[in-house]
Amino acid sequence: YKVDVSEGAGELGAYPFYMLKEIDEQPVVLRRLLSNYTDADGQVNMPEELLAAMQQADRLYFVAAGTSYHASLVAAPLFEQLAGVPVTVAFASEFGYHMPLLSKKPLFVFLTQSGETADIRQVLVKVKALGLPSLTITNVPTSTLAREADFALSLHAGPEIAVASTKAYTAQVATCALLAQALGIYLNNDAAKQFDVAHKLTMIATAQQQLVDEKDQIHEFAQKMFKTTRNAFYIGRGSDYYLSLEAALKLKEISYIQAEGFAAGELKHGTIALIEENTPVVAIVSDPVTAAHTRANATEVQARGAAVMRIATESLAQPGDELVVPDTDPLLTPLVTIVPCQLLAYYASLDRGYDVDRPRNLAKSVTVE
Ligand code: G6P
Repeated sequence: YKVDVSEGAGELGAYPFYMLKEIDEQPVVLRRLLSNYTDADGQVNMPEELLAAMQQADRLYFVAAGTSYHASLVAAPLFEQLAGVPVTVAFASEFGYHMPLLSKKPLFVFLTQSGETADIRQVLVKVKALGLPSLTITNVPTSTLAREADFALSLHAGPEIAVASTKAYTAQVATCALLAQALGIYLNNDAAKQFDVAHKLTMIATAQQQLVDEKDQIHEFAQKMFKTTRNAFYIGRGSDYYLSLEAALKLKEISYIQAEGFAAGELKHGTIALIEENTPVVAIVSDPVTAAHTRANATEVQARGAAVMRIATESLAQPGDELVVPDTDPLLTPLVTIVPCQLLAYYASLDRGYDVDRPRNLAKSVTVE
């Protein structure tokens, strides 16, 4: 597995772990993506042949694994709402063997940090055998999946060394936002014209910077919530739910705390049975449509003893919310809310004395099916 060291040195510098360095790099990566994919007027530039191929598609199939799967979930509504194209998101390890009935004109998108994940490769081989078009979006432009797909886009995140993926996730979501907007414009879609993606991502980079500068506060929450617990839950709705899945994955990967992300409304259909005195529940409230419902779910678990931490966006915040983060477009809030969640996981692992960058049983890139 090779990393492109031209975009930011792969050295640790003064950081104790790569993961913390890579969390901190996220605003820089966003700005680098903007300079690679937009011009001075904030217009997005994507390869014409790629947009033409995507225009032909009646459905996009995002096939990915792990964190990249979670980024795909966040990407899907961007393509649906800005470009008006339906999206299916699937695990690579399932899709290749249990392929659903495909639409008439599918186009496959492989989000993959390494570009080497074997489960994705076997899907790509099948897709190519069917003569169907494919796009790989990866951090390693020289990787197998970048070379073998019809089209490839780079994440420009620089080498990601820590096993737990952080800056690749935000780079994936941001690249998809840029591509979805460019496709929407190409299709003459009004929603895309009104979505000033360059401006929104610029504001998000500033918001991320503010959050990485609030490390000490988030460290305190991590100590309070995760010091001795054996399990934890993250809840949200819509994009906050997809974010919850990634937040929970981060925590379990490096702190070994059993963590699950849940669609907040599904909690009461079974999982709430697991809530005990002091069970940590992180509730993400960034979606104006469902904020009140998610808050009600948080209150419900609190009444059953849970230790609740609410992470809310400014315009939806209420007195007593534990952490308030800057506002952004509801389609893009995971780019902001993931930062404190990455830091919570980092400090939970650090405080338990683990090797944050090299968690047990995990590999950076999984090259076996
Ligand atoms: C491994 C890594 C994860 C990563 C997943 C997918 O499991 O530990 O961090 O999300 O593979 O990798 P990819 O390189 O395809 O994004």
